[in-house]
Amino acid sequence: MSNKNNVAARLKEYEGVISDTLRDIYGHLPDFDSWLADIFAIILDAVDQRPAYLLELDRVRETQDQDWFLRPDMLAYMAYVDRFAGNFRGVERKIPYLKDLGVSYLHLLSVLKPRAGHNDGGFAIEDYYSVNPKYGTMDDLVHMTRILQRNNISPCIDFVFNHTAMDHQWARKALAGDPYYRDFYYFFSDENTVRDYEAALAQVLPETSPGNFTYFEQAKSWVWTTFYYYQWDLNYRNPNVFREMVKIMLFLANRGIEVFRLDATAYLWKEKGTNCQNLSKTHKLLQAFRAIMSLAAPAVCLKAEAIVGARYITKYLGDPAGERPECQLSYHNALMAALWDSLATGNITRMSAMLGSLPPKPLATSWITYLRCHDEVGWGALTDDRGAPWAAGNDDLKKLNDFYEGKCDNSFARGQAFQLSSRDAFHGTNGTLASLAGLEKAMEEGNQDDIDMALRRIILLYRVIFSFGGIPLIYMGEELGLFNDYGYDKDDPVRDDRWLHRPALPDDMSRGRIFSALGEMARLRKTQKLLHANVPTVVIDSGNAHIFAFTRRNDEGIFLVLANFLPVPQDIDPACLKQEACLKQGGCDRSFVEQFTDRVHNLSQGLTLLPYECLWLKV
Ligand code: GLC
Repeated sequence: MSNKNNVAARLKEYEGVISDTLRDIYGHLPDFDSWLADIFAIILDAVDQRPAYLLELDRVRETQDQDWFLRPDMLAYMAYVDRFAGNFRGVERKIPYLKDLGVSYLHLLSVLKPRAGHNDGGFAIEDYYSVNPKYGTMDDLVHMTRILQRNNISPCIDFVFNHTAMDHQWARKALAGDPYYRDFYYFFSDENTVRDYEAALAQVLPETSPGNFTYFEQAKSWVWTTFYYYQWDLNYRNPNVFREMVKIMLFLANRGIEVFRLDATAYLWKEKGTNCQNLSKTHKLLQAFRAIMSLAAPAVCLKAEAIVGARYITKYLGDPAGERPECQLSYHNALMAALWDSLATGNITRMSAMLGSLPPKPLATSWITYLRCHDEVGWGALTDDRGAPWAAGNDDLKKLNDFYEGKCDNSFARGQAFQLSSRDAFHGTNGTLASLAGLEKAMEEGNQDDIDMALRRIILLYRVIFSFGGIPLIYMGEELGLFNDYGYDKDDPVRDDRWLHRPALPDDMSRGRIFSALGEMARLRKTQKLLHANVPTVVIDSGNAHIFAFTRRNDEGIFLVLANFLPVPQDIDPACLKQEACLKQGGCDRSFVEQFTDRVHNLSQGLTLLPYECLWLKV
């Protein structure tokens, strides 16, 4: 089929969805029809402008590679351009390094032009049509995306669409009083209105940026600023905001971006009296963005960054039947926080109960499973606003907070509390994987047994996220076991504490045990059909509060993961596994082969896991 025919077929498929979804959001506005016509004109124009090599990628992904982001050979790496490789050309030179790890997806942070000065690590964008000048030009970005694609690495960037920098031209015009652009943001001249909103809102940065509004004398108004004062929340009730963001997304998709990480996804829509997170109109907006991308650039995926309570995350992947798709990908922040909880307590009960309570994700979507990223480990994921039985209370969070700050006797961690606005509000913990998992402390103390234990912990966590279901993500420097960067505020005392875990990648760092374990895991994972993201994950009861267990199972077989979260050996009682419906029919009595060692286990005879051991067993 020619590209033209493809587009005609897609138009037929998506025209109705796009119109209906947008009508639900904006249909009450007087000039809705002409606005909608404009949206379609923008989409078709973008298709017209789409370079031939990307149209070809669209064609391949529409016809034979629909599941490209679900396959077990997907492995993500996340890095700041400058801290990883200097600039875009440097990233190209690092491709062999990424290939050695088995990486097939590269999320580059802070790519678009941020405001000068403080910019929240690049999350305050001044111009979406140009790149951070430190890294090169837009042409250099396109060059890099092409080279990455030729090496089978999908480029991903942040799409910061909840807010712009206050230095963005829209914000400047708004501040100067232009009513058209004032309506792009939330301006309130009445303090009572602000107070009413604020009463129901949470605080994302209670210590460094308390409150959700900032007063600007020039405008004699308060502006909605969920994050820092220089990040102005966009007003999606205004359809022109949506239209501008669509234009930007299409422009960047045509520059070779394959995955958009939708920054702060949960906050898009605001309603007085709510906490303005996860609102149904936010989901509608995502459905609209998704349908538009499916029409204009079907090779592209959307990835939700919704760092919210566990019960809310699955919805960002759309409804279970896949009838109202939203993002193809979403961070599994609940798994991430629960893994750190389990590692500290040695007990997996909360993690199992929480994961077991989540609705299944739609089959044609995928989690991003990860341990660390450029943000804190947020403890909020372990709480629940509707009082689920698994939810952590404040005492639990205090213990975690103290544990990861190294404040209790049995702690191996070297982290720091983040946004600890008061001694009883435990927001999150900063620190690199190696520092939180005990490698920093063990190395400093020179204790070989402790070093060994820390490495075991790291490999345990990776084996879980490499098999749980979804694209595992390595955050820059983890593969080298980088420790916290204690000099992060040396040149800039106002930097927030998340810079503790944003160390630059050294040129001369030798690759050690973590790097080779990761390479081995990625190679093995690739060959495992049962680790495809469309094979359901079922968390099961191992009968042991220290052993996390789940299966990946379909007609072709059973993949069983058993992970011991204690530093001492643990036994599995075979009777418990036999209770599990998912193993019963598959035959708990049959032999399971451990994939890393080829050892054969008969589960009916029981099994002992070594300290922090994680087994991948297959019938
Ligand atoms: C996201 C980013 C975080 C940033 C925030 C505001 O959560 O990951 O680093 O501070 O959005 O843009």
